[in-house]
Amino acid sequence: MTNNMFFIANWKMFGDLKSVNSIKKVIKLSKNKKFNKAQIIYCPPYTLISNFVKLVKNSKIKIGAQNCHQSQNPGPFTGSINTELIKSSGANYVIIGHSENRATGDTNHIINLKIKAALKKNLKIIFCIGETLIQKKRNKTNSILKSQLTVGLKNIKNNNNIIFAYEPVWSIGTGIIPKTTNLEKQVIIIKKMLMKIWKSKDPKIIYGGSVNSKNISELKKITLIKGFLIGGASQNAKNFIDIIKKTIN
Ligand code: 13P
Repeated sequence: MTNNMFFIANWKMFGDLKSVNSIKKVIKLSKNKKFNKAQIIYCPPYTLISNFVKLVKNSKIKIGAQNCHQSQNPGPFTGSINTELIKSSGANYVIIGHSENRATGDTNHIINLKIKAALKKNLKIIFCIGETLIQKKRNKTNSILKSQLTVGLKNIKNNNNIIFAYEPVWSIGTGIIPKTTNLEKQVIIIKKMLMKIWKSKDPKIIYGGSVNSKNISELKKITLIKGFLIGGASQNAKNFIDIIKKTIN
């Protein structure tokens, strides 16, 4: 998966049965040779995963879940889904550590357990890290990212199945993206951290936070960024396709 550009759609708690069909245009695009390098991954709500899996069956689009429970075994966890259930639903990816889940209780330690549970089931992981606005204002960005990575990856051997999504929390859903030079610097720092913490030579780092068809031309200039984790703009096929087309041309 090294040379691919990732376009990961995080639908969050949006979408219903009818909206599943809206991705048909994206499936068509994924079959166009010109977009060979676009690795498209849809992460719909759990309830739509099997519909998505069926629909993308004859394409190279992959499906992911948006979170998982840390327990590797079945158990009395009402409302939760573990990696075993995700795998059996036909998904191949799972988002772990999203700030919206960190905000409701996912600690770095829990995230570490979730990553281990996902690796055990051969799921690929989209591991989200990012600082809040307060942390940024207090110049804590690097120490926050370092602890998210250090604890999150504890006792996990370097492997090729984790994509690192840098999502500054202050950028999610706000329409504000970091300045290109700042973002580039931050991604270099994250890469260095991963080389040190995880002995990773070429970590796959993607960016998420208010990515849209307007700012993509600026964001794509940062060659260290290997793709995008897209919330709002991924729910509309046209916007999502625009982002892919403008990145790969
Ligand atoms: P937005 O693209 O809506 O800002 O969401 C980003 C995000 O949280 C993706 O995981």
